[in-house]
Amino acid sequence: MEFSMIFIVSNIMLLFSSAFAKTASPPSLSPTPAPAPAPDFVNLTELLSVAGPFHTFLGYLESTKVIDTFQNQANNTEEGITIFVPKDSAFNAIKKTTLSNLTSNQLKQVILFHALPHFYSLAEFTSLSQTSSTPTFAGGDYTLNFTDDSGTVHINSGWSKTRVSSAVHSTDPVAIYQVDKVLLPEAIFGTDIPPAPAPAPTPDIAPAADSPTEHSADSKASSPSSTHDGSSSHKLISYGIWANLVLATFGVLVLF
Ligand SMILES: *[C@@H]1O[C@H](CO)[C@@H](O)[C@H](O)[C@H]1NC(C)=O
Ligand SMILES: *[C@@H]1O[C@H](CO)[C@@H](O)[C@H](O)[C@H]1NC(C)=O
Ligand SMILES: *[C@@H]1O[C@H](CO)[C@@H](O)[C@H](O)[C@H]1NC(C)=O
Ligand SMILES: *[C@@H]1O[C@H](CO)[C@@H](O)[C@H](O)[C@H]1NC(C)=O
Repeated sequence: MEFSMIFIVSNIMLLFSSAFAKTASPPSLSPTPAPAPAPDFVNLTELLSVAGPFHTFLGYLESTKVIDTFQNQANNTEEGITIFVPKDSAFNAIKKTTLSNLTSNQLKQVILFHALPHFYSLAEFTSLSQTSSTPTFAGGDYTLNFTDDSGTVHINSGWSKTRVSSAVHSTDPVAIYQVDKVLLPEAIFGTDIPPAPAPAPTPDIAPAADSPTEHSADSKASSPSSTHDGSSSHKLISYGIWANLVLATFGVLVLF
């Protein structure tokens, strides 16, 4: 008899507490917004304008319209694309006339020369370095040689020797690697030009500290914002649980 009384009382308490918790919990707790529809394509313009600074290269991509060629290839998820992007400081390190004296077609070739019509992860350069010359987007004689030196990818254009200094983006189908120098093709510049870059003739502009900013566009993780709305109802629910626990303990004490 005593037991059934306790049982009934505890059930009533339980009903009350749960009902209370229910009404207390804000019904306005908005459903967590569905994640923004992830675009299948990587917007190269957007990516290059936030990383880097790669403004000079982006400027050439746009003025030569090569950006359309590259974006089209980036949209092509079958092959993908690998782009070597020199930082603004790399452009400052070459003579102004090096690029300004080129014909518009030559300039376009130089920019096309900075990409491979296939996605390569950094690890895949190990196998690329075994093949002799890798064709670039510029086609024909516009090839690059890669060597993998214990994880560091070295690039030789015949005229420029540089290395991949950081991966800006490397998710199939788009790889964007930062390089320390502008890749000048042997097909245009030949081999007679001294391979050492001209001592910077622009002392007026102190080159920005060339610290490798490992700024990865990938790392822009969208942290799910925690909702604080639930905390009050949570307290009430745990209060209900506590009440039931106390009641149960009481019931046990009465029983024995
Ligand atoms: C790519 O990004 C640029 C700069 O944010 C923007 O102007 C352009 O419309 C975007 N292109 C597409 C196809 O979304
Ligand atoms: C790439 O794909 C995006 C999204 O589908 C589209 O807006 C854009 O026009 C495409 N760009 C090119 C050059 O194909
Ligand atoms: C570049 O062009 C300028 C003027 O058009 C000329 O004076 C200069 O010699 C050229 N430089 C080279 C490296 O051809
Ligand atoms: C690239 O490699 C090939 C084959 O090893 C070689 O003949 C060529 O001279 C190299 N080119 C450069 C720019 O080092």
